[in-house]
Amino acid sequence: MIYYIIYTSTPNGNVTPEVLNDITQESIKWNSQQNITGMLLNVEDKYFQFLEGEEMQVRKLFDMIKGDSRHTNVTIRVQGYSNERVFTEWSMGSWMLTNKELIELSGLKDLKAYLDDPVNNSLQSKKFISMMSNLLQTWISHEPERAKRLKSDH
Ligand SMILES: Cc1cc2nc3c(=O)[nH]c(=O)nc-3n(C[C@H](O)[C@H](O)[C@H](O)COP(=O)(O)O)c2cc1C
Repeated sequence: MIYYIIYTSTPNGNVTPEVLNDITQESIKWNSQQNITGMLLNVEDKYFQFLEGEEMQVRKLFDMIKGDSRHTNVTIRVQGYSNERVFTEWSMGSWMLTNKELIELSGLKDLKAYLDDPVNNSLQSKKFISMMSNLLQTWISHEPERAKRLKSDH
């Protein structure tokens, strides 16, 4: 079984492409060694990350991430088990989006609703997985070059 976790957090300071890129590069190295895959999103004043892999490895990584001074309010939104991975081809993708872009990308409608109101949102675990799958497809079609590069880095 694949264990997965989704959390949100608040970045400390401005997230620039360099900041996100640094985190992504660190992540690719560690995650590929640990067979962890997923995606890190930055939408303005929020991080949103999906991690999947062997339960012990994912929990260990989450503990490391939780203690990282680059963000606060690290809150688990959903965790569970799945038969298969969503992200099969690389260890960690990342994407920086504005709220406006999020509204315009139809594949990300559920994600937008979720980020607007994570506390009252009644999305079930299964829905999160399909949301992640939509996110992956939307990202690949939106940033094909970046997705290809990440795939070859892996
Ligand atoms: C939002 C966010 C997401 C992160 N995601 C990952 C990740 O998926 N994989 C990883 O290895 N590190 C990730 N990191 C970095 C780790 O938190 C960091 O490398 C870890 O805490 C070890 O730090 P150290 O090198 O100072 O010991 C992330 C950091 C932040 C702020």
